[in-house]
Amino acid sequence: MKIKVKNNVDWVGKIDWELKKFHGNEYSTHRGSTYNSYLVREGKNLVIDTVWKPFAKEYVDNLKNEIELRKIDYVIANHAEIDHSGALPELMQYIPDTPIYCTKNGIKSLKGHYHQDWNFHPVKTGDKIEIGNGKALIFVEMKMLHWPDSMACYLTGDNILFSNDAFGQHYASEYMFNDLVDQAELYSECIKYYANILTPFSSILEKKINEVLSLKLPIDIIATSHGVIWRDNPIQIVEKYISWAKNYQENQITILYDTMWNGTKIMAENIASGIKKSDSKVNIKLFNIAKADKNDIITEIFKSKIILVGSPTIGRGITSATAGILEEIEGLGFKNKKAAAFGCYGWSGESVDKLSNLLTKSGFELINQGIKCLWNPDNESIEKCIAFGTEISK
Ligand code: FEO
Repeated sequence: MKIKVKNNVDWVGKIDWELKKFHGNEYSTHRGSTYNSYLVREGKNLVIDTVWKPFAKEYVDNLKNEIELRKIDYVIANHAEIDHSGALPELMQYIPDTPIYCTKNGIKSLKGHYHQDWNFHPVKTGDKIEIGNGKALIFVEMKMLHWPDSMACYLTGDNILFSNDAFGQHYASEYMFNDLVDQAELYSECIKYYANILTPFSSILEKKINEVLSLKLPIDIIATSHGVIWRDNPIQIVEKYISWAKNYQENQITILYDTMWNGTKIMAENIASGIKKSDSKVNIKLFNIAKADKNDIITEIFKSKIILVGSPTIGRGITSATAGILEEIEGLGFKNKKAAAFGCYGWSGESVDKLSNLLTKSGFELINQGIKCLWNPDNESIEKCIAFGTEISK
C-alpha cells in the first residue's frame, strides 16, 4: 500500500489499528498509531525512516512492489528508536551497502540496537544531498526532540519537512492527512503526545522551532513519523507546539485521588464542590488514579494551572497507584503549576506530608500544607474540604 504525499513522494508505512500500548506499557494508544515511512523517487531514490519491527517483513514486501530495492540510493534514518528503525535489518539484508544517513548519535543508537556495521553517513544541521531534478534533502538536527539522535529533513522543491516524532500523534487513520480526519480527535491525540513525550524538552523545542522558522523555508507539508501528514495549514501544529512549549496551562484544576474505603474520594468530591462554589468558570476534573488511564491523566495535568493530589495513608505512605503517577509527573518536569495534597487516615496519617514533599520535589509550588481527615469524613470534615476547595480556587 502506498499513499501519494506530493509529486514523487509516497507514504509507504504501516497503519496499526490494533496498537493499544506503546513504549512497552508506558503510553496508551486508544486510537492506534501509524509508523510513517516515505519513498522519494527523483534522480535518486530515497527511503525516509521505516516501521516498527513486527511489521518489518510486511513493510519490505510492500516496498518491493513499489521499487526494486537495489534502486534505493539512500536510506535516511531520522531517528533510531525501534518504531522507525525496526525494519532496517530486514531491508538492509537486500541492500547492505546502501548508505544510511543519520546523525552521529543516530549511528551510536543504530549500532546499539542492531549491532551492524552498515554504511553509515553522519550528517549535521545544514548538510544536504542533491537528489536530482533540482531537488535536495537538507538535514536539521533535532537533538533531544526527543532523543539525542533525532533529526528532521527538508525536501526542497516540494517543500516537505519530514519531522519524525515532532508534530506527530498516535492516531490510526486510513486517510492519513490532517484535513481528512476528525479534528477533535486529532487535537486530543496531538496534545496527549506533547504532554506525555515532549514536556521535558519544552525549552529546547521552543528554541529549535524558532531556529527552523528563522531559515524561512517554505513549508507546504509536514510529514511526521506517527499519525497524519499535515498538508492543510501545516503551520497550525507548529503554532500549537510554540504555545505548549511556553509552560502551557488552561483555566483548569485537576483533582487526582486514590481511595481505599471511599474517604479520600469523598474528600476529592467535596473539594471540587468548594472550588465550584467560589469559581464557576474554572474547569474541574476528577480522576481516580488507580482507575483512569495514566497518560490521559498526564494530559489533563499538562492543561491544568493547579493539581490536587489525594491518597489515603497506607502503611507509612501513599498508595502504589499514587506513587506511580507522581514518579511520572516528576520525570516530565512540569513548570509553572501549583499543587496541594489531601487524604484520609486511620492512625498516623503520613500521606499528606509525603505527597506535599513529592509535589515540591517535582517542581510544583505548594499552595498550602494540605488537608488530612481522620476516618471517613463526617459533616465537619466535609465542610473543611469544601472550605479547602474554596481557598484553593482563590
Ligand atoms: Fe516514534 Fe521516538 O519514536
